[in-house]
Amino acid sequence: MNTAAATPLTARRGGPLAGRVRVPGDKSISLRALIVGALTVGETRIAGMLEGEDAMSTANAMRALGATVERTGEQAWRVLGVGVGGFAEPAAPLDFGNSGTGCRLSMGAVAGCPITATFTGDASLRKRPMRRILDPLQQMGARTLTITDDERLPATIKGAVDPIPISYEAPVASAQLKSAVLLAGLAAPGETTVIEQEATRDHTERMLKHFGATLRVSPLGDHGRRIVLQGQPELEPSPITVPADPSSAAFPLVAALIVPGSEIILEGVMMNPMRTGLLKTLREMGASIEVLSERNDGGEDVADLRVRSGPLKAVDVPAERAPSMIDEYPILSVAAAFAEGATRMRGLKELRVKESDRLVATAAILRNNGVEVEIADDDLIVHGKGRAPGGGLVETHMDHRIAMSALVLGLASEQPVKVDDTAFIATSFPGFVEMMRLLGADYS
Ligand code: S3P
Repeated sequence: MNTAAATPLTARRGGPLAGRVRVPGDKSISLRALIVGALTVGETRIAGMLEGEDAMSTANAMRALGATVERTGEQAWRVLGVGVGGFAEPAAPLDFGNSGTGCRLSMGAVAGCPITATFTGDASLRKRPMRRILDPLQQMGARTLTITDDERLPATIKGAVDPIPISYEAPVASAQLKSAVLLAGLAAPGETTVIEQEATRDHTERMLKHFGATLRVSPLGDHGRRIVLQGQPELEPSPITVPADPSSAAFPLVAALIVPGSEIILEGVMMNPMRTGLLKTLREMGASIEVLSERNDGGEDVADLRVRSGPLKAVDVPAERAPSMIDEYPILSVAAAFAEGATRMRGLKELRVKESDRLVATAAILRNNGVEVEIADDDLIVHGKGRAPGGGLVETHMDHRIAMSALVLGLASEQPVKVDDTAFIATSFPGFVEMMRLLGADYS
């Protein structure tokens, strides 16, 4: 958990970035491997695991619920699970630190077990809404015993003795919400259905199928999906290979686009279509991103990406693209500052409930560094001039992606950019500063 004192850092413009790197394992898949592994009887081996703080807090929670979770080598882990419905009642509150995904998916898994557990986290997680998760879990028979007046953590949940399968239409596009319902549905008899009007990342569905569960997924309308899970499956352990996280790759990628003369290669980046909205958008902006050696690794498509710097033009990013790049708007906004013209990113309401109010925090990164930016309802508009003055201080608000976005901005802005606290970068991208320095970044 993040108890360290604030560690400020300053990014300065320097020479071109060059080199070949592999960013850490995907956070969404690493957390799911721990949780689904814990719900499976037998040993799940995980290779390429993200060894960031969000994964560590989720691993601790799985241990507290009775699973054995061990590191067996570099990024190599094993989980000895207890089976669907087999969690033991934890002796102390489960502390998920900064991890909304770890917490909300675990709430779903616990909701299907006849135990009582208290969920808590750091000051950022304790500000985030939980009603969206608790509503369907209560319909499935779980009870919320305690929660704060404004429905924030800490919350104590009593899982269902006889979980009820439901058909649930998600009111927001959220993979966390969908996953919580599906994980609770594992313990229910019959079919649990989730309807999403906007399809979101499908890592839970893929992993449950990989472990032998029966799921039927069908398209719904223009952008939606209907997912039907057959309850009470016998999950069979199966090894998991975690690909490099596209949301982490986004930072060196945009850095290479905006620092003149740069050319880098990012290895083994996951190319799941529900995660490639940023690549599509940057290409529309004229970015030079070459997809090399496309291959399948452990059930996900991956590729190496060759990125070269060059001029960018402004674009209009449609709201329906948001689920496939929901975590990438802060770093896209940095790229937009270096484009010519106004980039409008539409339909970003969900950014208000991330690790920080990311709509406001993203606008502040740019505004504090001399770039004109507007928030119009749920849209973010960046007035790009092909350059950024810099010279500002960025407050990270306990948000890893705000910290990394500001540190990328400072590599190409005229004056240095200072970040108040880089400690939270370790939640998703341990070694970020060192990897960027290897590519040539000037951070001190
Ligand atoms: C995630 C889903 C997204 C995303 C988060 C990871 C997941 O959150 O922002 O970083 O792994 O399911 P929402 O489901 O709240 O959109």
